[in-house]
Amino acid sequence: MDRIRIVGGRPLSGTIPISGAKNATLPLMIASLLTEGTLILDNVPRLADVITLQRILANHGVDIMLSGKRAGDSAYQGQTMHISAARIVDTTAPYELVSKMRASFWVIAPLIARMGEARVSLPGGCAIGTRPVDLLIMALERLGAKIEIDGGYVVARAPNGLKGNEIVFPKVTVSGTHTALMAASLAHGTTVIENAAREPEIKDVADCLNKMGAKISGAGQSRIVIEGVSKLSGARHSVLPDRIETGTYAMAVAMTGGDLTLAGARPELLQSALDVLVQAGVEVQSTNVGLRVARNGHGLAPVNVTTQPFPGFPTDLQAQLMALMTRANGTSHITETIFENRFMHVQELARLGAHIHLDGETATIEGVDKLKGAPVMATDLRASVSLVIAALAAEGETMVNRVYHLDRGFERLEDKLAACGAEIARISS
Ligand code: UD1
Repeated sequence: MDRIRIVGGRPLSGTIPISGAKNATLPLMIASLLTEGTLILDNVPRLADVITLQRILANHGVDIMLSGKRAGDSAYQGQTMHISAARIVDTTAPYELVSKMRASFWVIAPLIARMGEARVSLPGGCAIGTRPVDLLIMALERLGAKIEIDGGYVVARAPNGLKGNEIVFPKVTVSGTHTALMAASLAHGTTVIENAAREPEIKDVADCLNKMGAKISGAGQSRIVIEGVSKLSGARHSVLPDRIETGTYAMAVAMTGGDLTLAGARPELLQSALDVLVQAGVEVQSTNVGLRVARNGHGLAPVNVTTQPFPGFPTDLQAQLMALMTRANGTSHITETIFENRFMHVQELARLGAHIHLDGETATIEGVDKLKGAPVMATDLRASVSLVIAALAAEGETMVNRVYHLDRGFERLEDKLAACGAEIARISS
């Protein structure tokens, strides 16, 4: 298992290219199942989760071709992926594949919408809370699917097709909204989604579906209206930049001090997180290439933050912010409202010398003068990157174990940071 070795204490300066968003790429790839035509995606990041999903889609009979690098492409240029689900040969998504990545459960929506049947394994346990799929099932039932649970599988049937309806989500759910959008695109009649997730990745997927011939309006707002069509076609779409990767590097430079340009970043995708950084005393500036984030000389002010669905502060940046606040001049409070049990990084940050007290869903972080390197263990994707951020400012050496979590969602993290002055390297074993 690979490890990452970091020696802290160096400021970051230079340019980091921001990759395409993982959380848009995955549903966009899944949306390819809705059409016999070829979906071409540009700016696809090189991530373990993308490879896992390629395997899952291949099992349904989907052909995927990646274009090779072109002369003049930079090392970080996103990939172009040609995805063709001309003939779906299998409507079952088996446990061995779905259990590797929760988002693969979402294939249930295009499979039932296009094929009238789907048999998809329940995703099973997950490191961050129970994360059920009841609202995804509710959405499909509202569209007329008959659902049964059989041997750990969700079996969905709609032999005469899905029918448009009103879907009211009792809580904001990204997975539920993606599922409803994809399924309703091929349903007979009109669907209205109320209390839809407003995350930018939802809008990105809806934009792509519209290019494929869907009739979706209101994506990015709480009320989305979808007029079902009988068929979707191929299209070409470029994945939007990753706001979580952007926020992560912004927090990294806020932690180490220095001056970073995040090329290709779109500040409006993470305004709430940037507002928090400004409150903490970090300089944030929109530029013509993306975003500039700097901290020179100033200490960090503590902040009080509660995670919220978009446009609020994202849960996917909670762990990174906590790492940053371990070095603030004073006491911060961070409340996690989206996922239960998303505080596994607390124990590991404590190994580096952080002072964090947990009370239910709120963490109280007392800033300390210094952190000290230690061996730590990555527990999930965002938690592991919070350890990297802390290690970049810790005295001495930190060894981050189990970095496969990082590879799921961050493209060449160690290369991007090393190019900006960090002492960081992967140790392969
Ligand atoms: C997506 C993101 C993840 C992010 C999260 C919240 C992807 C691949 N993942 O996850 O990175 O942290 O949004 O922004 O895009 N819930 C239910 N029942 C359901 C579905 C969800 O109770 O059927 C609950 C969840 O347990 C959670 C909350 O709703 O407490 C939000 O979950 P959801 O927005 O669906 O997250 P994901 O789509 O899984």
